[in-house]
Amino acid sequence: MNPTSSSAVRVKVELGPRSYPVLLGDGLLEGLGPLLREQGMTQTNAFVLTNAQVGALYFERLEAVLRGAGFTRVVRHELPNTEEAKNWEEFTKVCSAMLEAFPDAGAVPLVFLLGGGVVGDLGGFAAGVFRRGVPFVQIPTTLLAAVDSSVGGKVAVNFGGVKNIMGIFNQPRLVVCDLGLLRTLSDRELRSGISEVIKYGAVCSRALFEQLEGDGARNLDRLLAREPAALIDIAAQCVRLKAAVVAQDEFDKKGIRNVLNFGHTVGHALELSADYALTHGEAIAVGMMAATRLAAALGMVPRDFAPRLQSLLERAGLPLSHRDAPGLFERIERTMQLDKKFREGRNVFVLPTGIGQWQQREDVPWDTVHAAVRSVLV
Ligand code: NAD
Ligand code: GLY
Repeated sequence: MNPTSSSAVRVKVELGPRSYPVLLGDGLLEGLGPLLREQGMTQTNAFVLTNAQVGALYFERLEAVLRGAGFTRVVRHELPNTEEAKNWEEFTKVCSAMLEAFPDAGAVPLVFLLGGGVVGDLGGFAAGVFRRGVPFVQIPTTLLAAVDSSVGGKVAVNFGGVKNIMGIFNQPRLVVCDLGLLRTLSDRELRSGISEVIKYGAVCSRALFEQLEGDGARNLDRLLAREPAALIDIAAQCVRLKAAVVAQDEFDKKGIRNVLNFGHTVGHALELSADYALTHGEAIAVGMMAATRLAAALGMVPRDFAPRLQSLLERAGLPLSHRDAPGLFERIERTMQLDKKFREGRNVFVLPTGIGQWQQREDVPWDTVHAAVRSVLV
């Protein structure tokens, strides 16, 4: 498909001089060359960061597209395939590979991040610090990266047992979501991305939540079946929601961007404490249930919210709880204390107040927090 054809969706992330388009459609990769030139990117050197799995599937296609667009050097570097690769050591290996391949300041590469959130987060960080910043393009290959991590410029690695603690804000120049690349994604990873889709509906958009719940042509079942029209429509809604939030609070200073962290306080702590037994989206699903129980205990959310959220998560094949294990609660509690929203021992939670609505609550009594966490460990 031609990226300018009517079935491709274009969403602009409005950030003044750092604005950029997000293109969503099926078959966009082949049209990448003209898109780059249209965005004023005239480089002829490319550094492609991917991982072993995605590289084996898609690097050669991307390389052919880049060569066809006039790139004379295309250097490939691969991360290991899992979240555990999102670490300082791999980050420095990427920096070394960039320097080794492009030692001349006159031959700065355009960086392409071909992969899921791990490649996008680590690579966006490396692109932001190499020579104090080189431009980069996100080519998300997971649903999670398409709807969330490739947009908004939060790029980081995990460090010292804390998620995303070393990082910067660094916006891409362009995001190209070729949703055709999602055909090779495992069902588990597709469901993991759906967790973030449900998050957007639950706290940002009643219309999206009800669309997913309903029996229309672009509902949750159609998304699970990877029907192109449902994928593009739903992913584009999520990107529009994220773009609107990011445009208001790019640097996460006004409390507005916190909405995107619904389910992430407990979710991130669980993801790390359970030694990556859960995918990011699975941990967030459990975290959303914990946050919902917390909101219910505080009398903040109507009674029908929890069963409706639970029902969507269950239909998506996502977990509502995680198997308890000795010391797990204590590890989650310790990790949660390092949450970047917490200040001087005061906790901060993003809590639902109705479908598509949220509020931030500070200083929630710890025994109430602990009860909500324990309720998702079974
Ligand atoms: P991931 O990058 O680990 O990818 C998941 C798995 O899918 C990997 O094993 C990968 O090899 C495989 N894969 C990727 N694309 C594929 C394809 N097209 N076909 C077959 N297999 C494919 O995980 P993710 O869920 O994409 O991202 C999770 C990460 O994103 C976490 O580190 C999370 O913290 C981060 N994140 C960041 C933001 C942000 O705003 N920066 C937002 C949400 C999540
Ligand atoms: N995924 C959280 C954010 O972008 O702010």
